[in-house]
Amino acid sequence: MNLYGRDFLKLLDYTPEEISYLVDLAATLKEKKKNGILHDELKGKNIALIFEKTSTRTRCSFEVAASDLGMGSTYLNPTDSQIGKKESIADTARVLSSMYDGIEYRGFEQEIVETLAKYSTVPVWNGLTNEFHPTQMLADLLTIKEHFGKLNGIHLVYMGDARYNTGNSLMVVCAKMGMHFTAVSNKKYFPEKELVETCLDIAKKTGAIIDFCEDPIEGTKGADVIYTDIWVSMGEPDSVWEERIKDLEPYRVTMDIMNNAGDKCVFMHCLPSFHDLNTGIGKEIKEKYGLNEMEVTDEVFESDRSIVFKEAENRMHTIKAVMYATLKKSE
Ligand code: CP
Ligand code: NVA
Repeated sequence: MNLYGRDFLKLLDYTPEEISYLVDLAATLKEKKKNGILHDELKGKNIALIFEKTSTRTRCSFEVAASDLGMGSTYLNPTDSQIGKKESIADTARVLSSMYDGIEYRGFEQEIVETLAKYSTVPVWNGLTNEFHPTQMLADLLTIKEHFGKLNGIHLVYMGDARYNTGNSLMVVCAKMGMHFTAVSNKKYFPEKELVETCLDIAKKTGAIIDFCEDPIEGTKGADVIYTDIWVSMGEPDSVWEERIKDLEPYRVTMDIMNNAGDKCVFMHCLPSFHDLNTGIGKEIKEKYGLNEMEVTDEVFESDRSIVFKEAENRMHTIKAVMYATLKKSE
């Protein structure tokens, strides 16, 4: 498999074989790291990390993975660069690709990362846009594969806002990998029709099942994985909270929902999560709306059904695989 020089912008651009290859490469690199085997094969290269939105996992994953691979990295935060203010994305791409070997971008519209890639002469990796979160998907697939030993046929239920980056990307990746994806939500939050049609077309070839359900009990029965994300994403206005809470409260992941799914069902979340409403924005929302629980209960999050921290760790190994595959010239 040769992915040298490729951008990593969304999984719609990758074949099931390429996605499997990246997941398996991540497992190999993870094994090396665990066994203390050096893998600094990209020594001498440098990468730029553009973050127009905040991050813990994605930023740390890129920085640690770059360091493990022997590369240097520069973090450009949401306020300290000229990007988008004094300088266009096209000019930024041409400047950075003259100095760096790869560019990560986290920000707003997918169109921005696609433009960056168009003008860049080095690989561009999407670290989250409003529409897609492809590096998260590789970590999720690796975690599912480690837990269940396979991807094909696994039934993943996504509860909550399924029309945003995480929900959209899960639907795409389930379609690609022959999985069963169910969005369980108020129908206002089902993915856009055009993306659904694209995924249904992919599913015809891979044997995947893509469906939608408004009833949380019916929709979660028999699930292998129940996945959720925060109800209001980065970059959305605070004014949407009230409506989101009203619309999505019936779709909170509770222990009753997990039990309804069955004994083998595990809980996943891309994180950060508002299971703990005692810090930051969670605390403000709790006080303002008198809410004690958000997208997942603390009980589920802290239970042994929850594999969220394995999933978070896998962000690093899978991001490393993407950089390795796209920057390492095969001999
Ligand atoms: N899941 C994820 O992308 O986390 P960060 O926002 O912390 O990078
Ligand atoms: N949907 C979330 C994902 C965070 C990793 C957001 O965009 O904020």
